[in-house]
Amino acid sequence: MREVAIIGCGMIRFGELWKKSLRTMFVEAALKAIDDAGVDRIDALYVGCMTSGLFVEQEHLGALLADYLGLAPIPAIRLESACASGGVALRQGFLDIGSGNSEVVLVGGVEKMTDTDRVTDGLASAADQEYEVFHGVTFPGLYAMIARLHMEHYGTKREDLALVAVKNHKHGTMNPHAHFQREITVDQVLASSLVADPLRLLDCSPVSDGAACVVLSSLEWAKAHGKTPVKIIASAMATDTLALHQRKEITTLGSVVESGRKAYAMAGVGPDQIDFAEVHDCFTIAEIVVSEDLGFFKKGEGGKAVREGLTGLDGKIPINPSGGLKAKGHPVGATGVAQAVEAYLQLTGRAEKRQIKDARIGLIQNMGGSGASSVVHILEVV
Ligand code: COA
Repeated sequence: MREVAIIGCGMIRFGELWKKSLRTMFVEAALKAIDDAGVDRIDALYVGCMTSGLFVEQEHLGALLADYLGLAPIPAIRLESACASGGVALRQGFLDIGSGNSEVVLVGGVEKMTDTDRVTDGLASAADQEYEVFHGVTFPGLYAMIARLHMEHYGTKREDLALVAVKNHKHGTMNPHAHFQREITVDQVLASSLVADPLRLLDCSPVSDGAACVVLSSLEWAKAHGKTPVKIIASAMATDTLALHQRKEITTLGSVVESGRKAYAMAGVGPDQIDFAEVHDCFTIAEIVVSEDLGFFKKGEGGKAVREGLTGLDGKIPINPSGGLKAKGHPVGATGVAQAVEAYLQLTGRAEKRQIKDARIGLIQNMGGSGASSVVHILEVV
């Protein structure tokens, strides 16, 4: 495999973007990334998107977006792995360049979620239709079950979940691209509407529109052309059962453990060497579980870690400096790529007020559904 690097990034502010269509959002983010990378060639396009067919009745995104970017006839492919669609698009770009097939690739993610009245149904299509959705379970419901069991097994407190939201909203105030840029308090989380007990509105990632892009090239090409590369030192993916009841236990996400294990082995680093992480906090409990399953904390101690401030910007392992899905927003297909945007900004010292001091190695983790797929990338300053 050749060495692969990110050489530029671009995204639009996530939110309820009533005046922007799916293609407009994508083109805006893509042009920013191409401009940031300063490239005049793109050999292939990979775009992550989960629901364009369901929500805006538009399939065939690869060709459509290549056309609207003026990039046709390059090969262009849309990838789908539910909320991990952006992560798998990034992995596909990595493999394409690593194999020597392409030299400069545009990887993007996009989702238009607010132009539909069936967002909860559409998202639930990523759960097991026969064993879960048919019986009325939605994603807040599935994560609520994980939260309940985590609280019962490990003594995680309701307030610990709230503190994840409070921290990520605080980080969001420092990110001009975040959907929500306002602080919230534990009391506000605990008083927000109940969605699926014990999860409340402020424990949930929002329904957002948005797009994010990165440009990748081989490290050799980046150096030869005077770019600012951040090396991708690991790319790993793993899967699990869609249905929660088929897992041995639900407070550990097997795909996260496995994708993390493979990524650490590929990068030759362990959790202690990671300077910051962007993880998939679609619900507050998800950040706690993932922080344990990636080895940042012992099983059961993720809640305590948040309580002790270990995951804040100045903590032992800052988690979700961008504001995470909770505050930055979660236009599902764009999420995994937006994590790469944040890692690139952090590792090139451009994260402004939320800059993590001396950050050299960052980990990004993106997952689909209740963890049936998980993608982990590790990035390092060159
Ligand atoms: N976090 C913070 N604020 C939120 C929010 C969230 N997740 N969701 C909505 N809001 C705010 C809105 O901005 C609005 O504020 P305003 O009154 O100041 O304008 C207010 O809360 C009500 O918004 P509304 O759109 O009516 O909320 P809703 O009840 O329709 O939706 C949820 C709230 C939690 C149900 C929805 O955000 C949701 O389904 N989230 C989960 C998405 C999901 O499952 N993603 C996939 C994960 S696997």
